[in-house]
Amino acid sequence: MEELKRKAAEKAVEAIEDGMVVGLGTGSTARYAILKLGEMVKGGLDIVGVATSLESERLAKEVGIKVADINDYDSIDITIDGADQVNGKLDLIKGGGGALLREKIVASCSKREIIVVDESKIVDDFSFPLPVEVVKFGWKRTADKLRQLGFNPRIRHGFITDNENYILDCEYERIKASKELEEEINNIPGVVENGLFIGLATEVIIGRKDGIEVMKRGY
Ligand code: A5P
Repeated sequence: MEELKRKAAEKAVEAIEDGMVVGLGTGSTARYAILKLGEMVKGGLDIVGVATSLESERLAKEVGIKVADINDYDSIDITIDGADQVNGKLDLIKGGGGALLREKIVASCSKREIIVVDESKIVDDFSFPLPVEVVKFGWKRTADKLRQLGFNPRIRHGFITDNENYILDCEYERIKASKELEEEINNIPGVVENGLFIGLATEVIIGRKDGIEVMKRGY
């Protein structure tokens, strides 16, 4: 599986050119992209990275990538990030690593959002518990409201996000992955952001045992 993740990540990195502002994703797949970019920077590639988590920022700096504040750039040329599940419409569930808020901010400012996954992440219907970032104040009441939407939320024990919030991992029987649901969840007071990424990925690169598959959004 590691090999499939690495293949997908390294394929995505081929799109990166000199002078680009590059969004650096979070997780074990995006990590391979950061490592490869580090090698390319050592070979002379001139890019600036915008990290989606403190962990990715640390790794990027360690491998020699310049890391900038997202506020210093109007937009990001290409972001390479992972996902927990991807459906046929290129919608995603993200946040297994807890970085969904910064990941969504960066994705929303990116001209191209390239998602890198191994083949086990491709599904017809989502089943991965939906991560929801909530403020600490009143989190049990926020969980009640998520229950009213049909979720079964569980606090991620011992975990605090880079933004000092909690994560509720929300199980469900079925969800309709839609912008409406994404917005409905975010309308609950106390919710900061949720891991449904609807319409944000422009491409998905899948590492398969028999090669690489690229899915592109139809515009
Ligand atoms: C981080 O919060 C997540 O959105 C990751 O992108 C996602 O969990 C994928 O991680 P892996 O590549 O480790 O599976």
